[in-house]
Amino acid sequence: MRRFLLLYATQKGQAKAIAEEICEKAFAHGFSADLHCISESDKYDLKTETAPLVVVVSTTGTGDPPDTARKFVKAIQDKALPADFFAHLHYGLLGLGDSEYTYFCNGGKIIDKRLQELGAQHFYDTGHADDCVGLELVVEPWIDGLWAALTKHFMASRGKEERNGALKMASNASQRMDPVKPELLRIESQVELLRLHDPGRKDSEVREQNTVNRNQSSAPPAESESSLTHSVPPLSQASLNIPALPPEYLQVHLQESLGQEESQASVISVDPIFQVPISKAVQLTTDDAIKTTLLLELDISKTDFSYQPGDAFNVICPNSDSEVQNLLQRLQLTDRREHCVLLKIKADTKKKGAALPQHIPEGCSLQFILTWCLEIRAVPKKALLRALSDYTSDGPEKRRLQELCSRQGAADYNRLMRDAHASLFDLLLAFPSCQPPLRLLLGGLVQGAPGLKLGRDMSQNSQMEDDSVFVLIVSWGLHVHRREKILFEELVSGEGTFSGSLTRDWRH
Ligand SMILES: Cc1cc2nc3c(=O)[nH]c(=O)nc-3n(C[C@H](O)[C@H](O)[C@H](O)COP(=O)(O)O)c2cc1C
Repeated sequence: MRRFLLLYATQKGQAKAIAEEICEKAFAHGFSADLHCISESDKYDLKTETAPLVVVVSTTGTGDPPDTARKFVKAIQDKALPADFFAHLHYGLLGLGDSEYTYFCNGGKIIDKRLQELGAQHFYDTGHADDCVGLELVVEPWIDGLWAALTKHFMASRGKEERNGALKMASNASQRMDPVKPELLRIESQVELLRLHDPGRKDSEVREQNTVNRNQSSAPPAESESSLTHSVPPLSQASLNIPALPPEYLQVHLQESLGQEESQASVISVDPIFQVPISKAVQLTTDDAIKTTLLLELDISKTDFSYQPGDAFNVICPNSDSEVQNLLQRLQLTDRREHCVLLKIKADTKKKGAALPQHIPEGCSLQFILTWCLEIRAVPKKALLRALSDYTSDGPEKRRLQELCSRQGAADYNRLMRDAHASLFDLLLAFPSCQPPLRLLLGGLVQGAPGLKLGRDMSQNSQMEDDSVFVLIVSWGLHVHRREKILFEELVSGEGTFSGSLTRDWRH
């Protein structure tokens, strides 16, 4: 059987799961994959590897490769290595990232660039999968195209060996094989476009846009223009490629509560959480600046909070009460909002390695979880749209949700969801026959923990004024989420009733 080496570098497990999927599928396509974590350097040797190499690598931190790839990256970055060190190596690389981050897929890009510098050659074009819109949009076509690329590679290598045997031809640059181009390149360019949303747009405009979108659902729009609920040809007539539905794995039980005390401390965090009032917020930059900078003064007089240079901080903030009540109403769970949420893994689930969602604390009320543990204002990912379509009874509404998450509907998703910063609410309002079960929202398709994570660099600008005041200078640019933007605008205008908390993030 034709063997290839399959390495993964993961921080949170997704790259590993994808590599395992590739490994499983390989057999059916007549290949055998030799699967290892990239850190297991005793199990493979790229210097002598003759089989093709497939690498799946995610990104962490601020554009860094996962911790498990650190040693590998350090080794290949050795400046003493000659430019033909990997000239024998043919590889394909799948990078995972999230386009909300500034350095998209940078972990993969670092490794890819260095392998090229050392003479390695692509037998298959690199894929960059975006967790922000759903990894599967790139991962699935990339894996589908991998088998043809490997087959072509093996056939070309065999042909080359035969020719070499017959003619003793010297290898030269003209024999470099053209990498196979997967269909995903088209998708990638669309995903790139998703990152370019207008940072200066005011939330009020967003709300207007969403209201317009909603209104369009009751009054049919001009035939030539699509809206959130209405599509036009060719999309409305296209047959659709929609992402596969993740297997169901969660059972949710609501149990009458015993009236136990709940506090924000129940929010799951490996770090201590401090709830502190914000005593002052001043915008330091002008409205038209590319980057917005804010001075936050936090009243820490009632905490034992202390900080050291180099620490990073997260601000966690709750969803607003009115939004939570609206959501409860829509889920038809208002009368059970005080019930305690109990989660279990479905016994017969097909999801591999199914685990309880880490962002949902045990034994808290439904209202608490919707307030503190779910990011209900984020732009829904395509995987969520896909799942929602299964719980939508009206035919045209169902079809529209499928279009928005389909490969063919990427431009509409881009314009009507991403650019418009549409939220789960906007969707539920626009698609009244959609009635998702609670397990769908708690099972990972909606991001966890509404809040703002402040990166390490920001803490360098932090200081203790005295024992009772902590001053944080916060900057954000293009990649800020809608929710964070609203939070900042509320803070700057002094309108909001935000009471935040401060997390000391020891992991950095
Ligand atoms: C703390 C953290 C930092 C991240 N930093 C980046 C980044 O700088 N660039 C990027 O493209 N993606 C970034 N991501 C997104 C991940 O690369 C993406 O979610 C990926 O699918 C995770 O794969 P893994 O589970 O194999 O680590 C980050 C994710 C986390 C949780």
